[in-house]
Amino acid sequence: MLMHDTIVILDYGSQTTQLIARRIRESQVYCELFPWDTPAGQVMARRPRGFVLSGGPASVYEPGAPTLPAYVLESGLPVLGICYGMQLLAHALGGRVARSPQREYGPTPVELLHPLPWLAPLQSQPQVWMSHGDRVEQLPPGFVVLARSPNSPIAAMGDPERRLYGVQFHPEVVHTSAGREILRRFATEVCGCAPTWTPAAFIEEAVASIRDQVGEGRVLCALSGGVDSAVTATLVHRAIGNRLICIFVNTGLMRRGEPEAVVRTFRDRLGMPLVAVDATEEFLAALEGVTDPEEKRRIVGEKFIRVFEREAERVGRVDFLAQGTLYPDVIESAAPDRPGARRIKTHHNVGGLPERMRLRLIEPLRYLFKDEARAVGEALGLPPEVVWRQPFPGPGLAVRVVGAVTWERLERLRAADAILQEELGQAGLLRTTQQAFAVLLPVRTVGVMGDSRTYEEVVALRVVTTEDFMTADWARLDPDLLARISNRIVNEVAGVNRVVYDITPKPPATIEWE
Ligand code: XMP
Repeated sequence: MLMHDTIVILDYGSQTTQLIARRIRESQVYCELFPWDTPAGQVMARRPRGFVLSGGPASVYEPGAPTLPAYVLESGLPVLGICYGMQLLAHALGGRVARSPQREYGPTPVELLHPLPWLAPLQSQPQVWMSHGDRVEQLPPGFVVLARSPNSPIAAMGDPERRLYGVQFHPEVVHTSAGREILRRFATEVCGCAPTWTPAAFIEEAVASIRDQVGEGRVLCALSGGVDSAVTATLVHRAIGNRLICIFVNTGLMRRGEPEAVVRTFRDRLGMPLVAVDATEEFLAALEGVTDPEEKRRIVGEKFIRVFEREAERVGRVDFLAQGTLYPDVIESAAPDRPGARRIKTHHNVGGLPERMRLRLIEPLRYLFKDEARAVGEALGLPPEVVWRQPFPGPGLAVRVVGAVTWERLERLRAADAILQEELGQAGLLRTTQQAFAVLLPVRTVGVMGDSRTYEEVVALRVVTTEDFMTADWARLDPDLLARISNRIVNEVAGVNRVVYDITPKPPATIEWE
């Protein structure tokens, strides 16, 4: 990716650091994220045109707090410090940072005192998002105050000559109305980056680099039905044609119609060599009587590897394994101790495979965020139901059938889930909600149907909106829509007599029930 003008973001541990990268990429400017203490050589090898310093939970004046590496200022490149990053800049350049008398949290209006062109959008959209306990009390020499808020006399500061800037607020979150535009202008106008990071450019480079890497070799890819593996396989197929072989394992734990759709799309429509295996009975046998969720995950993951290896042996010699690893996985495995960082679940069912099978890895999406992977999928001409498919956990419905996993209960859940998907689809809500699914609970409750009492299972509906899946809120669905879904499930799905709607945000609840 060296041909693109690049911004480097140094990560000081904020929950929203990845959002900074996403916002800058949305302006078609390439950027990369590094832990703040990454060796200078590694960072400068990217030949950045500017730096962004993220927020973080520390206080600059505490012993042992993360610091500003000397090479950043020595480079003479533009720097934008955000929140902790701003305080760090002030601290390093001779200003003073102290605890504010009042913590500032939430939406706040700022007043622009110095309308530099890249900050000018704040004039018409002054609402910003604040979240800090410390603040800059005294400017470093050469700096001027650019904006103030009720609780931060120095809400933004800068030394335009040296192109060093700091903002106390978070331009990367959606609550800062002008945030996206400010970051775009910083990247393109202050740092001078050309907006070349487009899906078409990415595809061209990825295809060339896959050809380069693979040579005359053969590549294996596990298709899961999800967007990541679909985009990966399509890129590799475009690069090397039928020397790509895809394997699709039907675990019996997918939603209704999905296994058939995978075969239809990839084998019939896109013409990829595809081995489809129905391993339903094997998975169900392995899961028999198991109720512990982590045990279910382990069993499904292990079984998957077993079946995949067996099928892979039948396709003859292969040299590479293509995987749909995305940038957030790469970032998170580079920074395992980040406070509050998401624990990586056993997401990738193919984890462990390349070593066991002695295959080299191809990960064409390892610099992409999910929304970028979707944009690439669209540009590759993948059908919308693939591109816009909501995330689905690797262990599938095994963790949505709470309690024992049986074929009967899976089918019950599939029927209820299909109704939910259909109704949300008709209401146009499958893109505005990020995850929507039904869960089958292991309790029976009393109901009445006609003249008789029933004693049947409960379906819970979980529909959430989220920007990053680390926090989420429940979707405020129209009560009439909920009523229709509930009626249909109780009437059409045998064995279910009650439907509940989950109204818990994450945190404290997770998105999945298991
Ligand atoms: P939670 O439930 O932790 O989920 O709020 C966050 C996101 O991760 C997905 N998820 C999984 N994905 N294997 C996966 O591949 C898993 O074991 C797993 N558990 C949760 C979940 O669907 C949501 O998108």
